Amino acid sequence: MTNAQILGTGSYAPKRILTNHELAELVDTTDAWITERTGIKARRIAAEGEVTSDMAIIAARHALAMSGTKAEDLDMIITATISPDMPLPACAVIIQAKLGAWRAFAFDISAACAGSLYALTIADQFIRNGRARRVLVIGVELLSRLVDWNDRNTCVLFGDAAGALVVGPGQGDGRGLLTTHLHSDGRAAGILSIPGGGSQHPQSAEVLARGMDKIAMNGREIYKFAVRALPEVILEALDANGLSVADIDHIVPHQANARIVESVLERLGIPLQKCWLNLDRYGNTSSASLPISLDEANRAGRLKPGDLIAMMAIGAGMTWGSALMRW
Ligand code: ACO
Repeated sequence: MTNAQILGTGSYAPKRILTNHELAELVDTTDAWITERTGIKARRIAAEGEVTSDMAIIAARHALAMSGTKAEDLDMIITATISPDMPLPACAVIIQAKLGAWRAFAFDISAACAGSLYALTIADQFIRNGRARRVLVIGVELLSRLVDWNDRNTCVLFGDAAGALVVGPGQGDGRGLLTTHLHSDGRAAGILSIPGGGSQHPQSAEVLARGMDKIAMNGREIYKFAVRALPEVILEALDANGLSVADIDHIVPHQANARIVESVLERLGIPLQKCWLNLDRYGNTSSASLPISLDEANRAGRLKPGDLIAMMAIGAGMTWGSALMRW
């Protein structure tokens, strides 16, 4: 059994930058409040007419180019997203068509901000059992169309972006994914949701009037959940591999809030310098956050062969997980 290795990374963020100062003209907030509570300074907003799959294919092409893979050689495309082009069909098949990845089978998964970790885990399993040799994992979100721009509790947090990873078999030299650990707790489903538009509250004039088609969130509960669950799942991963916190060279986190990341690292005793942070520029891009961070760290030359990378993510569900990888 060969574990999976990341062969190429790519990312894309729309050109339009929306700063905290501009947001302060839309809702009752300030740059100081947002910066102090979240670490976010700006986020990207997709252009009119730009859709989720448009962003995804740009990130995907960068990752394919880096890995030297042609789209037609892909066996499988997994897209992690909660903001697809449309409810049906899957965003992944639209991406498949736009890329011309004719041999691949393609599907979406819904695990919110932990989506990329879930997708990477599925890719790893298919590669380990020999059913796939080239898998495209995409995390992409166009959240600017899912937030209520009158709700200061949520509209300051999110941004649009895409990240992509091309995954293939490792060389058997110890590099690649070591393990992933995934968890969910549906008892916490109510603390972050889009309550309308599904079978419970089908799309209707009332759903729209009540804003039930937009993100609703209990920020404080998410915060408490995250700072408890993330250190636990990193320790679970280290324990499973007989490694310790000191062995970690880089932390690549889902970036929801700088205070969450700082608190998790402090609890684990990991210096902040080991962490790639970009949420000041992008805000919370949900499933895109992790692959974008990995791509930026990779292209900046931060990751050296053999380095131990710990990835962690948490999102609505609640869903969360970690992955340990030798670069
Ligand atoms: N500007 C100014 N004031 C605001 C804003 C804003 N944008 N948003 C909320 N406030 C106000 C609240 O109304 C409240 O006012 P009140 O005391 O008069 O009622 C006050 O600020 C304090 O609100 P809290 O919710 O207690 O603020 P807190 O310190 O908890 O910070 C925050 C809020 C930033 C949302 C924090 O709880 C958080 O980051 N939670 C995690 C949420 C998250 O990351 N969600 C993303 C999706 S999930 C994921 O990716 C993991």
